[in-house]
Amino acid sequence: MADLDPPSLLREAVRASRRAVAPYSKFRVGAALLTRDGTVIHGANVESVSYGLTCCAERIALFKALTDGHSDFTAVAIVAPHAKTAPCGACRQLLAEYAPDARVFVADSRRPTKFREFTVDQLLPEAFRSLRKKSTRT
Ligand code: THU
Repeated sequence: MADLDPPSLLREAVRASRRAVAPYSKFRVGAALLTRDGTVIHGANVESVSYGLTCCAERIALFKALTDGHSDFTAVAIVAPHAKTAPCGACRQLLAEYAPDARVFVADSRRPTKFREFTVDQLLPEAFRSLRKKSTRT
């Protein structure tokens, strides 16, 4: 899927949400990250009995992608069982750092064709950036 096709990417996010490990909230979130070469990486939220250790779907997708060697992201689709879903503040910071140019599509997982679109800059204006010049990779 090198071409950007929001509905297809959102359907990937719905697929990802089925792998959520959310026994406490029962709130299944899915994320699908699209790389410039057309690779799709799935993520879903994983919860802990020590609630604060829970990790969001968006961060799981980003961490998976980064540690698999991807670094150029053109889009991310996020779905949750809520009409007005949007990434949390922590995920916005990570997106600003590692996927600043990605288009962000968000939708209710029960109605993924009805989506909203944002830029990362809209979601987190004036994001904190590293003092280092370009990549944070070593
Ligand atoms: N959650 C996400 O996966 N992404 C977000 O952007 C917000 C919240 C998850 C965390 C937790 O497992 C559940 O949703 C309820 O907050």
